[in-house]
Amino acid sequence: MSVPPSPRPTTPASPRTGPESAGSRDARPPAEAAVPQPTPARHEPDNGIPADPDTFATVTDRLRAAGCVFAEDEALLLVTAAATPAALWAMVDQRVAGLPLEHVVGWAEFGGLRVSVDPGVFVPRRRTEFLVEQATALTRRGAVILDLCCGTGALGAALAVAVADAELHAADIDPPAVACARRNLAAIAASAGLSLRSGANQVYEGDLYEPLPSHLRGRVEVLLANVPYVPTGEIELLPVEARLYEARTALDGGADGLEVLRRVAAGAPDWLAPGGHLLFETSERQVPHAVETVERAGLAARVATSEDYWATVVIATSHRP
Ligand SMILES: C[S@@+](CC[C@H](N)C(=O)[O-])C[C@H]1O[C@@H](n2cnc3c(N)ncnc32)[C@H](O)[C@@H]1O
Repeated sequence: MSVPPSPRPTTPASPRTGPESAGSRDARPPAEAAVPQPTPARHEPDNGIPADPDTFATVTDRLRAAGCVFAEDEALLLVTAAATPAALWAMVDQRVAGLPLEHVVGWAEFGGLRVSVDPGVFVPRRRTEFLVEQATALTRRGAVILDLCCGTGALGAALAVAVADAELHAADIDPPAVACARRNLAAIAASAGLSLRSGANQVYEGDLYEPLPSHLRGRVEVLLANVPYVPTGEIELLPVEARLYEARTALDGGADGLEVLRRVAAGAPDWLAPGGHLLFETSERQVPHAVETVERAGLAARVATSEDYWATVVIATSHRP
């Protein structure tokens, strides 16, 4: 299936950023843009911004002084993305104030897709691509996929595009996230040919399984659930980008970070198809409790880790015949 075109260039983002960090300030740009598109030459943006090295150097210096490790990459991105000189300096001010780069430019790259990221909505982390890779290996063409706690909808969209003909459903409790995911899925469906089967590509708003249509019960073959998993007491330790600019509901996993996961696991056997899989990310420290949680719900668990992505994923499978 083809990858949809994108109106914007690629954001610097790193596999080494997680829900505990929006992390763009210390992020590396991907090796290449996942979505083919013309890249303007470094100092030749077509937006009225002076194509002189001084402008670029000034932007870079301001970003570096604010702590952006990959200041040059970010400067190039902002100079390219800004529609006017005034917009450029406004974007630089936002970034210097700590707004995640993805919120400044309005999009993130994930799994080869460009997804819109609205203000306050959780920025999909590059390391979560590992979860999608694990899911892709388990998902048949035409599968029923549910992206619970979907945020921008990036995970479900990337999986659906990877496996083709999927029936994708997504849900989130946060209205801005739901609006953002609806827009992303519609755009990606239009350009990548995601299944438009009646009732598919829906984004529901509400608490976990509560808003889902009953016809999904027992039919979900792959359930992605990148739930919030930062313990409440550790929220204040998060970088300012996450702490101030992402919704608390997107981060806070309760006292031990596993409260949302417990509810997802408890409900999963009802919604999973026989042999269906629940996949979620967790921290290394939480693995034993996360595994115990899904096993208590009657699912068989295995753990996958990636040094490259710096990510840990639990894959829990329904035994139900
Ligand atoms: C860590 S973010 C992950 C977002 C997205 N899956 C991603 O990886 O980019 C967690 C998401 O869970 C949502 N969420 C938190 N509690 C929820 C609940 N009880 N029901 C549904 N969604 C919830 C938040 O609004 C947020 O969008």
